Amino acid sequence: MTQNPIQLTNSRYRLGYHLMAPAGWINDPNGFCYFKGYYHIFYQYHPYSAEWGPMHWGHARSKDLIHWQTLPTALIPGDSEDKDGCFSGSAIVKDDTLYLIYTGNNYYDDGDPDHYWQNQNLAYSQDGIHFTKYDKNPIIATPPTDNTQNFRDPKVWEHDGHYYVALGSQDQAKLGRLLLYKSDNLKQWQYLGPIAHSQSVEQEGYMWECPDLFHLNGQDILVTSPQGIAAQEHQYLNLHQTGYFVGELDYQAPKFKRGDFHELDQGHDFYAAQTMLTPDGRRVLIGWLNMWESEMPEQVDGWAGALTLPRELIYQNNHLYQMPVAETKSLRQQKLRDEQLMVQSETELVNNQSQVEINLQLDSTKTTAQHFVVQFTDPQTHANVQLEYDFAQQLFTLKRSDRSDARFAQLRPNEKLQVQIFVDTSSLEIFLNQGESTITERYYFDHAPQISLTSDQALAFNCQIYQLEKQSNNYQINE
Ligand code: FRU
Repeated sequence: MTQNPIQLTNSRYRLGYHLMAPAGWINDPNGFCYFKGYYHIFYQYHPYSAEWGPMHWGHARSKDLIHWQTLPTALIPGDSEDKDGCFSGSAIVKDDTLYLIYTGNNYYDDGDPDHYWQNQNLAYSQDGIHFTKYDKNPIIATPPTDNTQNFRDPKVWEHDGHYYVALGSQDQAKLGRLLLYKSDNLKQWQYLGPIAHSQSVEQEGYMWECPDLFHLNGQDILVTSPQGIAAQEHQYLNLHQTGYFVGELDYQAPKFKRGDFHELDQGHDFYAAQTMLTPDGRRVLIGWLNMWESEMPEQVDGWAGALTLPRELIYQNNHLYQMPVAETKSLRQQKLRDEQLMVQSETELVNNQSQVEINLQLDSTKTTAQHFVVQFTDPQTHANVQLEYDFAQQLFTLKRSDRSDARFAQLRPNEKLQVQIFVDTSSLEIFLNQGESTITERYYFDHAPQISLTSDQALAFNCQIYQLEKQSNNYQINE
């Protein structure tokens, strides 16, 4: 039976400047790298329906991290080592060749979706468009004997003339952990051992998905997506979390000595982030702009899922900051507002625009106000999203009328407050105080939002609003 790729039937929720597949389902970003003048990103992709299914690797490239051109599907499952899926993985460039290292997912023939084996595989390309799977796959065939079947999401990097892979896994006591492998040729791999371990399911999870270990501003940082961390009052409220540990990787021991886990984004819709190092030395992260338990109303329109804006990571003052990459400014078109606003009763900021960037700055020491609210409202259905700030607690609360559970961003003590919001048809990416905290959300309105600001006392804001470029999903790059 030949399958036909699913087609879009309605573009009402399609995003204007975020990367999506042409149609079908996507989840994690994969293989984020720079090769022969282009940034490349791949993603977990099911082209035949708007549901998760046998995973392919969708592919796009860009000159500037912002305008993406969709390329042919890079990896298709179905070979003996990846018969039921090409799961998440990463990329490395060596000798004019782009290598992908990915997990093969294979089900046993007992019809039980929880009974599978996972292995690690290699594919390569010289032109960055067509990929060949290595004929001696798998390159890492089985997990260590003290592991469960959860053994996936290789992240590859080079250090001191050797290649390393960090793998997400679970030990037999059902705790998440990170495994380290070493190679000199990307084909034969030596197992070095587990290098970090979850302390308990409640604190650090039962399985670590999508690990990414890198050096930044004098520290080694592990970004990973643990499953199973227990919810706390204002944190860890999604089904699974994406966050980071800061520490030091000792290649000799080998061991990653690290501190506590910190959540990376406070929104309902952020997961499985991956990073790369740009040619000019920036560490840039992209995440999945959705989350497993979120409803995805776009599925009835023939698609589901998108990737976040690329975010530059900076580690300072014992904290990991995320800022939209500088290239994001190239999306700015007309400046819709640039002024000082005195707000008390509800004040309209912008109306009837699906792609905008809103920047607000204020001095928290110069007001007696207790809170303010930025509200996004569908002018006809009155569906809404509210972002409320409480000055006394220095706490943002995000509420969506389509969800019963709020999300929270606790800021450090501050005098100046900065709020930067990227609105795109059905997504919001909110950067608070220079990326100290972020909130990533999907939202589903039938009409472009009315965006307003309200406060309980007169409050002075600096406000700049830009209309942003609405791209086609398939940007053509002129060679
Ligand atoms: C994370 C994840 C990965 C896996 C992939 C499968 O979202 O579960 O661990 O490789 O998705 O699509």
